[in-house]
Amino acid sequence: MNSVELRQKYLKFFESRGHKIISSASLVPDELVELSGTQRVLFTTAGMHPLVPYLLGAPHLEGQRLTNIQRCLRTDDIDQVGDAVHNTFFEMLGNWSLGDPASPDGVGLGGYWKKETITWSYEFLVNELKLDPKRIYVSVFAGDKDAPFDEESFNIWVKLGMPKDRIFKYPKKDNWWGPVGETGPCGPDTEMFYDMDPKAAGPIDPSSDSNRFVEIWNDVFMQYDRKIKNEKLKMKNDSNASSVNYYYVPLKQKNVDTGMGMERMLMVLQNAPSVYETDVFLPLIKFLEKEVFVKFKYGREERVDKAFRITADHLRAAVFLINDGLKPGNKERQYVLRRLIRRAVLQKELWGEKKSKLGKVVSVVEGVYKGSYNFSVTNISNIIDEETRKAEVAVGAAMKIWRKIVETSGGPVFIPGRSLWGVGESVKRTFDAKIVFDLYQNYGLPIEITAELAREVGGKIDRGGALELFKKHQESSRKASQKTKGGLVVQTEQAAKLHTATHLLHQALRDILGHHVHQTGSHITEERLRFDFSHNEKLSDDQIKKVEESVNQKIKENLTVYKKTMPREEADRLGAIGLFDEKYGDLVNIYYIAGTEDMKSAFSKEFCGGPHATSTSELKSFNIIKEESAGSGIRRIYATISG
Ligand code: ALA
Repeated sequence: MNSVELRQKYLKFFESRGHKIISSASLVPDELVELSGTQRVLFTTAGMHPLVPYLLGAPHLEGQRLTNIQRCLRTDDIDQVGDAVHNTFFEMLGNWSLGDPASPDGVGLGGYWKKETITWSYEFLVNELKLDPKRIYVSVFAGDKDAPFDEESFNIWVKLGMPKDRIFKYPKKDNWWGPVGETGPCGPDTEMFYDMDPKAAGPIDPSSDSNRFVEIWNDVFMQYDRKIKNEKLKMKNDSNASSVNYYYVPLKQKNVDTGMGMERMLMVLQNAPSVYETDVFLPLIKFLEKEVFVKFKYGREERVDKAFRITADHLRAAVFLINDGLKPGNKERQYVLRRLIRRAVLQKELWGEKKSKLGKVVSVVEGVYKGSYNFSVTNISNIIDEETRKAEVAVGAAMKIWRKIVETSGGPVFIPGRSLWGVGESVKRTFDAKIVFDLYQNYGLPIEITAELAREVGGKIDRGGALELFKKHQESSRKASQKTKGGLVVQTEQAAKLHTATHLLHQALRDILGHHVHQTGSHITEERLRFDFSHNEKLSDDQIKKVEESVNQKIKENLTVYKKTMPREEADRLGAIGLFDEKYGDLVNIYYIAGTEDMKSAFSKEFCGGPHATSTSELKSFNIIKEESAGSGIRRIYATISG
């Protein structure tokens, strides 16, 4: 079964059980709904992220049963990419139940709980995907001081015919999901594994052999709300966070959140040795063989295969990120993208044809995902090629430094064009942890590559020391990222007003500069709004004045901000702006700013998730503080309100 069939089968299976198919959200969460620096996610890391408001109780327009295929990006395991199962970008097939079965909200069939969830997962695996039931293993939550053993799930598995010696009980660290931030919905999960070795003897604990077992599906039962025990202590001094204990209370609303990793499932279905031999990766591997690592064949030598895999993974992730509007840069998300490309370039520099153009990969990715995603091929290729040129400079610098270190250690002198190294004395030296770490930190040279380079010259690295430094670094960046993780929508009154001002500004710009003006980015803090839009020239003083006047006029008119839900077709017909990812047939939220409820009379009509002010007079007055370029063809405005 290939990826196209798996996608269709999954969605159809859950659709026929009352689920509405919803679109995949962007990999890059919409900054407009973040509204605060304290609860942000850098990327969509699971299918449930975009659904957090609904898991917390907001009613979803499509009802309580939802299913989709969500594109995700996780970089926590980036150093494991290259093994059989880890990827940065992946797709997650998911189904959700929002809220209790006992209280359906009148849309669709209402929610469901453990029995339906586990039964459907099992039926899908065995009846639809035709997996061998004897090779399926499962785990359930073992119980601890916070929550009891998940006996209900255990019994459901037994009833379905799962032998007890293939049901494993794991602690919280393995069988618990969430919350996405420090507090919020979470709960025990039950995971499914597949035994890749049909001839292996007897049931063993699947967590004891990651080569033999592949984790394929995770059913999470979000029935608890994690809270902080000593809120005051935490508020007073954030550095006390680690000494703060959590406690768990039953959640008001029970939810189901399931996630099946697409690539891993394809590996099982296609009986492939790794995700890289499945139909979503093979064309990329072939491309790399032909265009990049031209001196090598995939599948012959482990260290070269690793280069193929890392490059394929990172380039695929980069293509999807750029397609979702991200550009490489030096800050946060942009830097993650830059690092992905840089790591791919490093592989190319080490093993590949230096002149090969990595940007060509985009049309290969497009071919793999035909029918599921659309890509702006030329644009993405150009961005990758341009970033590759910059990366080559950085990687070249890393290699220069490395060669210097080797040469000053009395090692062989590098002879360009011969091989990595010319002939010379071998270096009987252990390279310091700090050298290894600096090459990683400053130039993105992974530890195993430095180890490899050291071996080539007859030396080795202080692996233990380097790992120690990495761990320290990871801990401090985890602490920093906890502050920005979460995915929850933090809604403050001030931000809501600035959000309404953003809509007014967008329309005023379109009226004054022309309809080529479209939002390309937006960011709101408590103090100001920042709005990026497509326009080629600097705004004149007169234009800025006119835009300000237009927004202030609308504030004076005390217009109301209305919200209406409608099918996308209708929103399009009514001229609403800002509709990007939505499919036809999707229901969308439109906010319109008008003097009467009649949408035709509206000054601004925009697709958006809110929140907003109730009326424009709350903004009091609007003031543009700065206008500047934000890249070619893009202008940026900073503005404030006095309300
Ligand atoms: N949110 C769950 C996961 O990502 C399903 O594993």
